Amino acid sequence: MHIAVIGTGYVGLVSGACLADFGMKVTCVDINEEKIKKLKKGEVPFYEPGLEELVKKNLKAERLFFTTRLDEAVKNSLVIFICVGTPSKPDGSADLSQIKSVALSLAEIIDDYKVIVTKSTVPVGTNRWIKSLIDANKKSNAPVDVISNPEFLREGAAVEDFMHPDRVIIGGESSYAIAIIKDIYRPLYLAETPFIITNLETAELIKYASNAFLATKITFINEIANFCEKVGADVTVVSKGMGLDPRIGPKFLNPGPGFGGSCFPKDVRALIHQGKTSNSPFKLLEAVIEVNEKQKLRAIEKLRELCGDLKGKTIAVLGLSFKPNTSDVRESPALTIIPELLKAGAKVKAYDPAAIEEFKKIVKDKVIYASSPLECVRDTDALLILTEWNEFRFLDLSQIKKLMKTPVLVDMRNIYEPSVLKNLGFKYSGIGRKVIA
Ligand code: UGA
Repeated sequence: MHIAVIGTGYVGLVSGACLADFGMKVTCVDINEEKIKKLKKGEVPFYEPGLEELVKKNLKAERLFFTTRLDEAVKNSLVIFICVGTPSKPDGSADLSQIKSVALSLAEIIDDYKVIVTKSTVPVGTNRWIKSLIDANKKSNAPVDVISNPEFLREGAAVEDFMHPDRVIIGGESSYAIAIIKDIYRPLYLAETPFIITNLETAELIKYASNAFLATKITFINEIANFCEKVGADVTVVSKGMGLDPRIGPKFLNPGPGFGGSCFPKDVRALIHQGKTSNSPFKLLEAVIEVNEKQKLRAIEKLRELCGDLKGKTIAVLGLSFKPNTSDVRESPALTIIPELLKAGAKVKAYDPAAIEEFKKIVKDKVIYASSPLECVRDTDALLILTEWNEFRFLDLSQIKKLMKTPVLVDMRNIYEPSVLKNLGFKYSGIGRKVIA
């Protein structure tokens, strides 16, 4: 089976490399020449655990190919995966310009039956629109079928998620095309992964509804955490107690500095927009976005509670990526919190194991970048932990206390025990737990 994958972002590249690993011949296409040049040498332009090894292995086995030529990739492929970006427009709706341009290019090229599979997260109705665009503009009489096959890959665990998914969603109208896609995912089917075969609209909405639900779950626990602080409850125990109910489940009940990343904020906004235009508003999701924006500022409030006025203070920030195991800083809480600290007149020193380069592109040299956690905390008035990288879980706190001007720790991921910090003589504020002042 020959497959083309359009777009080599983390979804396209992970999908391409994993499908090649399943034994298929996969050609990945991207318009970015520099990126393709690197990928041909096996260099992955972003940090995603296990991906570079997989790309190298399948390049060597001659199952994975890279090109900037869409026609070359499409010519021999029966199935074409669309994995291009659908970023937010200023009104919150999904920008479908990349999807449109791919559909129009495909219409020019296709001269044989093809199955076009959309993996990009697209508003309900988009797959039908893609088919009508191709049908209206195609140069040949070759038929095309479209399939919606949304991805559920978490950054930082994307290879694992592709190889061991909780479910595979296939939306479509042609039973022939559905059978072809089922065949591609046969290794997962054999491993008893649940498959849901449904119509296009339902498949498209499963993706949005899943992300919106998870974002809501996080936002719910963030509000519970804020309430815990007022009434003397401990959110970590509340989460545990709630999560033991199988109807609720323990995952995504960890409070934090607000959700970020390239998916949740964008997808929740896009679903709100779809609700508005369909006259079926999502009031709950509007509140999720509002509460999440406020949640990011909790870190600043906590620093003020423990340090007073932040003007002239130096704050060490550990964690710039929106979550661990990624260099991605898109919509990272650090991108809101650090500029707020600077606005309040504080100096910021920051460290992250992988995301400094990406963060620098946006915040530039307004921040002092450190090369280790210990260097970051030296001569600072407070330490703020924003991302729960493993590297931050076992810091030498006695050493940190010696290096800091004043031992203050604001832990927005609850990776430390308040009692331990108290014994060490720190002022400590986690999230949704007892504050040690
Ligand atoms: C998310 C979904 O989890 C994937 O299933 C989906 O495929 C992907 O979006 C996508 O649409 O492409 P991702 O954005 O990589 O994946 O990250 P998550 O691990 O879901 O975390 C999102 C945000 O929620 C992070 O900022 C994280 O710190 C935050 N979070 C997560 C919490 O604050 N608390 C939690 O308990 C869990």
